[in-house]
Amino acid sequence: MKITVFNGSPRKFTGNTHRIVKAFLKGCEKAGAKIENIFLASKKINHCMGCFHCWTKTPGKCIQRDEMDQLIPKFMSSDIVVLATPLYTDSVSSILKKFFERLLPIVKPHFERVNGETKHIPRYEKYPDFVFISNCGYPEYSQFQVLEHFSERLARELNAKLLLKIFRTQGELLSADHILLKPIIYKFLKSVEKAGYQLVKNGHVEKKIIESWEKPLIPIDMFLKKANEHWDEKLKKIQ
Ligand SMILES: Cc1cc2nc3c(=O)[nH]c(=O)nc-3n(C[C@H](O)[C@H](O)[C@H](O)COP(=O)(O)O)c2cc1C
Repeated sequence: MKITVFNGSPRKFTGNTHRIVKAFLKGCEKAGAKIENIFLASKKINHCMGCFHCWTKTPGKCIQRDEMDQLIPKFMSSDIVVLATPLYTDSVSSILKKFFERLLPIVKPHFERVNGETKHIPRYEKYPDFVFISNCGYPEYSQFQVLEHFSERLARELNAKLLLKIFRTQGELLSADHILLKPIIYKFLKSVEKAGYQLVKNGHVEKKIIESWEKPLIPIDMFLKKANEHWDEKLKKIQ
């Protein structure tokens, strides 16, 4: 099984998104998957021009020459793609969004109606399935409501099964260096690793693991207090 990660965090290797991705991939590899981890922030990707030439002049191919020429074949030849992003303005980062918009050539211009709604006709017989990974700054799971919906809509449009969503609130805690947080973070990342293993081995992940991700890592009151103290400290240094 081939799994490719497209990570849209500008922090790349040092990001909280990557901490989750790393644990997930560890589990996938243990279960025998072949993995590739791509940081989109390191790639030259122009924005979609909206010309529709990928549907008319050069069907199935964008007229722009940049690193999407290599990324689309990697996307299409994967069994599972992991779409990873920090939550930015309630949604995916612009880095990941730009990548999605450049996937227009992989569907045909023509319309079809599926379950009462219009979508584009697939260009290919097989599309990769999706795993969505995100983390955000705020502590409530409801912060992911746009992404919950968006991930489902995108999977529908790109003919993918949405296999799993790993959304982590209080994401900045993942890189906080505090002794009391270590066992909490360890437990979370172990559960993500286990999920990667189970997904590759069994095709699904235990419900209790998925449900555990909806709970905050530390109580919300404590989190707010500590987060505000942290910003006070930072601001004191510039005074
Ligand atoms: C421009 C910007 C927008 C953000 N928007 C949100 C947001 O809407 N909701 C939220 O909970 N966190 C938001 N955050 C916080 C990030 O999701 C958080 O810092 C995350 O841990 C970053 O992940 P990364 O280290 O992988 O980049 C935002 C951060 C930035 C820089």
